[in-house]
Amino acid sequence: MTKTTPYKNALVGLLSLASVLPDGTTASVLPRTQECQRQQYPGPKNPSFETGDLSGWTVVNGTAFGKSSVTTAASSQLGSGPFNQVGKQFLSTNLQDGEAATGTLRSSTFKASSVMSFLIGGNYDPANLYVGLVLEKDGSLLFSQTATNDEALIRIVWDTSAYAGQNVYLVVVDTSTTGHISLDDVRTGCDALKDGPHTFNILGQSNQPTSKNLTALSAASRYAVDPTRPQYHYTPYQGWINDPAGLIQWGGKYHLFNQYNPVAPLWGPMYWSHAESTDAVHWRDLPVALTPPYVNNTQDTSGRYTGSAVKNQDTGALQLIYTDATNVTYHPHAVPEVVSSAVSSDGIHFDLYSGNPIVAEAPPTSSAGFRDPKVFWDPTANNWKMVVGSGDGHTGNVQLYKSTGPSSSELLSWEYVGVLHQGDGSRGIMWECPNFFPIDDKWVLFYGQDKGFKGWYEVGSFNGTTFVSEKLGLFDSGPDSYATQWFVDDAGRNLAVTWINNWNTTKWPSRVNGWAGTQSIMRELFIREDGGLGQKPVEEVSLLASGPAKSLGQTDVFGTYEVGFTDTARLQATVDLAASDAPAFTIELFASGAESTSLVYNFANRSLTIDTMNAGYGQAGTWEATIAKPADNRLSLDILIDRSSIEVFVGDGTAMTVRVFPRYQESKNIRITSDGGKKTVFDDIVLTPMGSAWE
Ligand SMILES: *[C@@H]1O[C@H](CO)[C@@H](O)[C@H](O)[C@H]1NC(C)=O
Ligand SMILES: *[C@@H]1O[C@H](CO)[C@@H](O)[C@H](O)[C@H]1NC(C)=O
Ligand SMILES: *[C@@H]1O[C@H](CO)[C@@H](O)[C@H](O)[C@H]1NC(C)=O
Ligand SMILES: *[C@@H]1O[C@H](CO)[C@@H](O)[C@H](O)[C@H]1NC(C)=O
Ligand SMILES: *[C@@H]1O[C@H](CO)[C@@H](O)[C@H](O)[C@H]1NC(C)=O
Ligand SMILES: *[C@@H]1O[C@H](CO)[C@@H](O)[C@H](O)[C@H]1NC(C)=O
Ligand SMILES: *[C@@H]1O[C@H](CO)[C@@H](O)[C@H](O)[C@H]1NC(C)=O
Repeated sequence: MTKTTPYKNALVGLLSLASVLPDGTTASVLPRTQECQRQQYPGPKNPSFETGDLSGWTVVNGTAFGKSSVTTAASSQLGSGPFNQVGKQFLSTNLQDGEAATGTLRSSTFKASSVMSFLIGGNYDPANLYVGLVLEKDGSLLFSQTATNDEALIRIVWDTSAYAGQNVYLVVVDTSTTGHISLDDVRTGCDALKDGPHTFNILGQSNQPTSKNLTALSAASRYAVDPTRPQYHYTPYQGWINDPAGLIQWGGKYHLFNQYNPVAPLWGPMYWSHAESTDAVHWRDLPVALTPPYVNNTQDTSGRYTGSAVKNQDTGALQLIYTDATNVTYHPHAVPEVVSSAVSSDGIHFDLYSGNPIVAEAPPTSSAGFRDPKVFWDPTANNWKMVVGSGDGHTGNVQLYKSTGPSSSELLSWEYVGVLHQGDGSRGIMWECPNFFPIDDKWVLFYGQDKGFKGWYEVGSFNGTTFVSEKLGLFDSGPDSYATQWFVDDAGRNLAVTWINNWNTTKWPSRVNGWAGTQSIMRELFIREDGGLGQKPVEEVSLLASGPAKSLGQTDVFGTYEVGFTDTARLQATVDLAASDAPAFTIELFASGAESTSLVYNFANRSLTIDTMNAGYGQAGTWEATIAKPADNRLSLDILIDRSSIEVFVGDGTAMTVRVFPRYQESKNIRITSDGGKKTVFDDIVLTPMGSAWE
């Protein structure tokens, strides 16, 4: 059996289904129904393991497979589910002989149809854990697919038209002693694409453009074919991103850096990827800015963690100040987290400062981590200051430094001031990604609670050394926001980008397409009427419109009102609270007969709830925020819908962000329902189609 990389395998056999992208190149898009009908043959025996055993399948080698490999569901080895199996039974490779067992299982031989699909779950490890399709005549591996580090099963679709009519079989391969893989519901022919009236979204590595030279495709084209991929939010084409870092407007352009692993859609040795924008909403990728120190050892997680960017006032250079993290398993005498710097005169190429580190050790009040330096100008003292995230073993804290150097090196020489702020232990024992900045006559502190992974803000006052907190709140009331970074642009706006994901969830379905992680739209910050921190999308978001808005004008909604059918749009609605007499209204997004995400507003207690309990493959839950009573009796909602992300901005400054991964192509309805047979009165409902963020 020849084993090549999954990405290469994926490029085989797509041409019959290829379609032409905007720039004239071809890409695999969605297999169409008539093409699935072209060649249809029965699949392997016992395709959904409903016999409750391995009937029809053959153990090739190893001890991973046997009588206990097939399960009905909630098994302690697999956690709590739901697993989304079809029927009752499914296969998993850790049930027979534990996680350490290895082995190979093969299906009966069957003739390849034009298309096939199956459900997969378990660990991500393309080399050691995969479901493969093998051509019987020469034993070559035609396709392979690993899982996403999630037990819940996800449907993968393979375009097998290039092999249609030939004898093939499936293999389930587990050569990992630390992970497992699960399989269920193998389908062939048109059944592979449909669940009753609903058509599966086409997920899997075969959903990548087929061009041999991907760099020759425009980013917009490469990004368009993936149904899990936001179109007007920043994502990596392949690999993983987490924290936004180094936000700055420098040389007129907006710069966004990201914690980045190009090797896999998983966290790993951290690089800094880099993109720039002329208008704060359209992006162009630039070369990687920072590379981890020991890339020759892929097990060594030493990397360049989050930090900030500043314009050097003397040289005009773009200076990065970040955490150099060293894995002490491989470097036992190293200090695990220090502050370092890198500089660029052209905004593209960065040189590490020869005097690194610039802060060589954590202060005594820091015993649980010391990372994510954020440099800011302090107008109360007329000097540069820096906050660093930390904890003392009992509570998270924020460490404050001030610059000491003569002006040309002022960003390289720091003196410890003290603990700027600490918690009472209820918000975690380590705080990450602190940011500290003035807005109006207040100061705002951000930090992320390591363990629990909530992003907090506090608003208060600051006199140069002491911060007095007056108001505490969540930066975002949805589940998917963390590691928010602030900056001031040339227009003097306080802006922020938040990672619209969270460590809390194991659900990263886009991993089947090779990538994970999304950054929010640029958000403008302000102090709310109640003294809390508010946010709204920057006005440049309107530049992303790809066509004219549909404006419904004043609308009295009784029952259900269909607003549109799209998964890439901006929905703006204003409700006349005084004229409405319904107890509640619901906005459904990504909706079909099978699934939807709902946003419910209750008039009496002003609660707004996002509900993803039946939204698809992503995390299932409900999240609630209480909206301030508006002075003009108008509730305004500005909702950014982008294939797998929803950002809700309410008029009072509340933001709620959630990732959703619909299963079906039909799940694009946007509808509003007024509850209790009563009316909800809208001043206006505006739906704007949105285009690509890629220049
Ligand atoms: C089973 O066979 C495969 C393919 O030859 C091999 O990679 C794997 O190591 C074998 N596993 C065991 C447990 O012998
Ligand atoms: C791929 O395309 C880029 C941009 O058009 C070009 O510079 C490069 O030489 C091409 N590489 C190959 C291997 O064709
Ligand atoms: C890996 O690279 C680092 C830094 O470049 C070097 O110090 C180290 O000796 C290298 N290790 C190996 C095994 O090549
Ligand atoms: C350091 O490397 C070890 C072994 O690969 C790994 O288990 C550990 O999580 C790493 N530590 C950090 C902080 O990345
Ligand atoms: C993350 O999970 C913890 C533990 O279940 C929970 O307390 C916390 O609220 C979650 N955080 C978010 C942002 O959902
Ligand atoms: C700031 O406030 C603290 C606490 O009240 C006080 O000890 C300190 O002297 C003040 N610093 C300045 C520069 O006013
Ligand atoms: C608001 O009212 C709704 C409907 O009665 C209820 O489900 C929800 O829990 C309430 N929220 C708060 C914060 O009281």
